[in-house]
Amino acid sequence: MSPHQAPPANAKDIASPWRDDGSSRIPSPVYTSREIYDLELERIFYGKHWSYVGLEIEVPEAGCFKRTAIGERSVIMIRNRKGEINVLENRCAHRAMRFCQERSGKVKTLVCPYHQWNYNHDGKLLGVPFQRGVKGNGGMPEDFSLEDHPLNRLKVEVRNGVVFACFDHEVEDLETYLGPEILACFDRTFDGRQLTLHGYSRQRIPGNWKLMMENIKDPYHPGLLHTWFVTFGLWRADNESQLRIDEKGRHAAMLSRRAQKVTENVAEGVTSFRQNMTLHDMRLLDIVQEDWWGQHTVCMTTVFPNVIFQQQVNSLSTRQIIPVGPDAFDFVWTHFGFAEDSEEMTQRRLTQANLFGPAGFVSADDGEVIEFSQEGFRQAPEFSTLCELGGRDVGPTEHNVTETLIRGMYRYWREVMEL
Ligand code: FES
Ligand SMILES: [Fe+2]
Repeated sequence: MSPHQAPPANAKDIASPWRDDGSSRIPSPVYTSREIYDLELERIFYGKHWSYVGLEIEVPEAGCFKRTAIGERSVIMIRNRKGEINVLENRCAHRAMRFCQERSGKVKTLVCPYHQWNYNHDGKLLGVPFQRGVKGNGGMPEDFSLEDHPLNRLKVEVRNGVVFACFDHEVEDLETYLGPEILACFDRTFDGRQLTLHGYSRQRIPGNWKLMMENIKDPYHPGLLHTWFVTFGLWRADNESQLRIDEKGRHAAMLSRRAQKVTENVAEGVTSFRQNMTLHDMRLLDIVQEDWWGQHTVCMTTVFPNVIFQQQVNSLSTRQIIPVGPDAFDFVWTHFGFAEDSEEMTQRRLTQANLFGPAGFVSADDGEVIEFSQEGFRQAPEFSTLCELGGRDVGPTEHNVTETLIRGMYRYWREVMEL
């Protein structure tokens, strides 16, 4: 974890790098400045925003836990004996130690190794060694009470198997937070069916965390950058598409239908198109239409600030963003399916997952462009990006030739950050 100083009390201590009132030209320091990043942690990740923590099936029984992070703060998702999910901050109430180091496991109680304070699954302090001293010596003062020293417990909402948490208990409810348009996209995948866990991939990407949100809010790069998509026809600029965005502009969804017939050759002149490239294993293109898709074959949903829900034909994953400084973030992919899937469908989902993840035939490209963009920002502090495809405003569209979703996110970012 990178060391960082306490954030300034308010945004007024930071000189705004923006040169206009809009959100279509984003200045380099938004991606590189340590003090802006610190303010993001406070206002966005630790403020009134819901963060994705995991899937309920990751902690199937009482005492099962998973360690993850919201912003830079380590948290533990754990199921209690009543079957409820808690999200507890991984910080001992004694001397602040980040006591849990395992990624996941199953425990009767949570024990801090330093001085063995132990907590139940709700974060309540159960016991403290030497509370009454040893042979009449030492011990805690009379007024010490176990009740006064629980772990920090976050506000939690579980929706159809997906767990969100927030440090600020005053946050609005999750449904209101997502808004009707994004909620509909969320519920399209997570409609209450039992989920199954297929595995994880993890990577550290040396770029600012927002670049990953931008990447998914940019629906026209896949048909240009990704050789795989362009060459094998999974994503093209002439696909029927819809972009949805919540009222505040912070979340978005891109729905698209794979072209059944080639109407014109939109791959012509695109450098990533490889006429002579063929697949050795055709199972990668063994796509089977599923009833719940409706008319769309792809749905990519970004929920600000830390998760992307992916349905790319038969491949399903959540992609969690964990920032580790202004210039890097951890990206955790959780691949899943449904309990009702046949063995054949499970294999199909796993095979198609090869397109994604750190070394995915498609996603490896995204990790690289994010790294190389960050390099550009670092070297050019006076630079501003240009996000004006489709105009300068923010709103839903019936096509994907636009950067409107990126503008939406920065319009909201400026409001929250007061920069
Ligand atoms: S720091 Fe955890 S028990 Fe002392
Ligand atoms: Fe991409």
